[in-house]
Amino acid sequence: MSCKGFAIAVVGREIERSVFLVPGLWVVVLEIGRNEQMNNSEFDTVIDRRGTGSLKWNRYTGRDIIPVWIADMDFQVPLPVRQAIHRYIDFGVLGYADVIDGLNEAVVEKLKVDFGWEIDASWIIWSPGLVPALNVACCAVGADGDEIVTFTPIYPPFLNAPENARKKLIEIPLCHKDGSYTFDIEEFEQSISPKTRLVMLCNPHNPVGRVYKKKELEAIAEICLKNNIIMCSDEIFCDLILDEKKHIPIATLSDRVAGNTITFMASCKTYNLGGLNCGYVIIPNEKIREKFLAKKTEIISRMGILGFAATLAAYTQSSDWREKLLEYLRQNRNLVTRYINEEIPALSMDHVEATFLAWIDARKLKVPDPVAFFENAGVGMQDGREFHGDGFVRLNFGSPRKTLLKVLNRMKTAVKKHLKSLPLIAIPRSPSAERYAPYAKQSRHSKRSKEFQSK
Ligand SMILES: Cc1ncc(COP(=O)(O)O)c(C=O)c1O
Repeated sequence: MSCKGFAIAVVGREIERSVFLVPGLWVVVLEIGRNEQMNNSEFDTVIDRRGTGSLKWNRYTGRDIIPVWIADMDFQVPLPVRQAIHRYIDFGVLGYADVIDGLNEAVVEKLKVDFGWEIDASWIIWSPGLVPALNVACCAVGADGDEIVTFTPIYPPFLNAPENARKKLIEIPLCHKDGSYTFDIEEFEQSISPKTRLVMLCNPHNPVGRVYKKKELEAIAEICLKNNIIMCSDEIFCDLILDEKKHIPIATLSDRVAGNTITFMASCKTYNLGGLNCGYVIIPNEKIREKFLAKKTEIISRMGILGFAATLAAYTQSSDWREKLLEYLRQNRNLVTRYINEEIPALSMDHVEATFLAWIDARKLKVPDPVAFFENAGVGMQDGREFHGDGFVRLNFGSPRKTLLKVLNRMKTAVKKHLKSLPLIAIPRSPSAERYAPYAKQSRHSKRSKEFQSK
């Protein structure tokens, strides 16, 4: 070899970097992949989302902080979805939308094939996102002052929806057993009062990443049937199962359970369509469906045509893309889990069975505000307190591996430095830790944003 030195770079792997100084020659940089496979997939492409109206990225405009907080991924949506949207844009008339041909049939088919759930198309109610639908459900069931139960930590809108509907929230903490979270059935039963009307479940669970087993779901469903409590089951992450497990829609347990359940699903988490506000609710019980529909019409608007078009293309033409995404996320999950549990002292996390979210225990760091601590290190995570999980942070690993490695390395460096420098210095509370208010934050218009707008 005539060259004076060489470098081996293994792109797309978790990198261990060793630098050798070879006398008289160049510096040799040897980068060794450990557990993770070389990928070179479309998901490796780093896309600059700054200035493109991204809620996730605008939070840190002008600061060197990589956002890994809100649950959208830094990947382009599947090509058939983009093409479907283009067709409607090119058509150019964008009036109020109705469900497009073939979409309800696609949902019926998907649920049958993926989960063995046979539904009637008339049970599907489309909604411009699931957060408004959760709020509608809380309004539609029971009377003012009734009680709604949920299991914490939980996706923050679950914590606000009961109060928005003039109901009382009853929180049952999930119990942590043998390295994973589950329902505390005894505490749930004890919490039930004559005013308990609704239970709100999240399966797969955001933020803890559990895919609940049949036995766990049966225990909840039985108690609800016995006590006349309707179940709301948010299954928005049902297509993002990373383990060999199957997702079980709670409504498939029995016809009685189906008749007592409001199920929430959407294409938006799996196919990265959060900005299109598209979701649907499945209510087999006619009486409950009518109540829900009546409230929905009063409270929220319709879904837009682009959400319909994107969902149809996602469900009917994008299954290969989803398989590749799942493989990529699995490797990201493995990387994050190993890194957090083995490389970064004082942090730990459980195995993530589904979602692209890691629920990280930062209590041993002993800092007053873990989000502020990691923001100071250049990483923007979501505060566990918003989920009622004090001392935890949530990390979204739906990013190219290169970005994720940068995030993990920044975290490791900061934690190691911090542990060396104990005793603690007070770290200011992060403004982003104030309640759950990502939507209230004003985005600052950067130069890049103006360029993007004028393209
Ligand atoms: C469990 C859960 N439900 C609902 C949503 C939001 O749904 P949408 O964007 O359709 O309102 C999210 C978003 O992260 C979520 O995690």
